[in-house]
Amino acid sequence: MNDCAIERPLGGSGISVPALGVGTNRWSADASDLASLQETLAAAVDTGTGFFDTAEIYSHGRSEIALGQAARKDGRPVLIASKFAPYAHRVTTKQFASALDRTLERLERDSIDLYYLHFPSMRGVGTWMRAMANAVRAGKIRAVGISNCDATQMQRAVRVLARRGIPLAANQVHYSLLHRQPEVDGVLDACRQMDVALVAYRPIGRGAISAGSAPASATASATAPGQSGLDDVLRDVAAARGATAAQVALAWLLKRDDHVIPIAGTTKPEHVRENAGALSLELSDEEFTAIDRASAPVPVT
Ligand SMILES: NC(=O)c1ccc[n+]([C@@H]2O[C@H](COP(=O)([O-])OP(=O)(O)OC[C@H]3O[C@@H](n4cnc5c(N)ncnc54)[C@H](OP(=O)(O)O)[C@@H]3O)[C@@H](O)[C@H]2O)c1
Repeated sequence: MNDCAIERPLGGSGISVPALGVGTNRWSADASDLASLQETLAAAVDTGTGFFDTAEIYSHGRSEIALGQAARKDGRPVLIASKFAPYAHRVTTKQFASALDRTLERLERDSIDLYYLHFPSMRGVGTWMRAMANAVRAGKIRAVGISNCDATQMQRAVRVLARRGIPLAANQVHYSLLHRQPEVDGVLDACRQMDVALVAYRPIGRGAISAGSAPASATASATAPGQSGLDDVLRDVAAARGATAAQVALAWLLKRDDHVIPIAGTTKPEHVRENAGALSLELSDEEFTAIDRASAPVPVT
């Protein structure tokens, strides 16, 4: 990590990570991609954003393999989060333990910094939190997270883990200027109250926000309803600050609350470097409010 890295805590876990991470759901271990993914990983470490988000289901495990290989070749320390998918056929803690072992093998590591329950399942959050606690005790997980969980499921996870002396480190949910659901469904409030990091996935709307840096007429057909006003404000702020729309959107999320840690998905070193510029872009209160007003805090359906 570089000297001027900006970090945020993963709740009360005692672990801090870069305030902005890199999503790897489109990374794959195809030989043709590996050299460029290694450059992408190196760019993240260079810019203080070496906190990588993967999952066993991304590219059928090839995202974890690519990340593990790129990290080994780079050689510098990185922080890695992955996820357990509680499919309907997975009902036992033994299945959980074996899925985690396969993830660690693919990542070429003995332990993982943060391991999430990818989504809630019929089996209930509590069962999987007990399995997580066992893995923490076994030294295979440093911090425990959940993903796509509501405030009630968060409370349940916090209670089950607390009985075992483990804090819930993070809830990873969809959160961006195009999807402000966590502000209205109680998840952001729950993160503040229970001191849990809100890891924001799709923070630039799968790239739709970065497209807003183009002239409005060029993007009109690709934007969601209501996005064009937001595009205009993002473009104005970006132009005034010598920044890009993606940087402004990420800087807005970072300013919104100290618990928010956006993870911008990218396969490209130049996009890693661009996105990392958000860490040094301090929006004024006026800029923050103008963007807030242009982006309704309800999901676009
Ligand atoms: N927990 C969950 O259920 C869940 C669900 C979805 C995603 N996630 C995680 O969250 C991460 C982020 O979400 P996401 O990847 O879906 O959406 P995102 O981060 O909002 O956007 C990613 C897209 O934007 C492009 N991009 C990135 N930086 C850019 C820039 N500066 N300028 C222009 N384009 C840029 C990327 O393409 P390039 O490759 O060309 O840069 C990619 O197409 C994922 O990678 C994954 O790790 C988790």
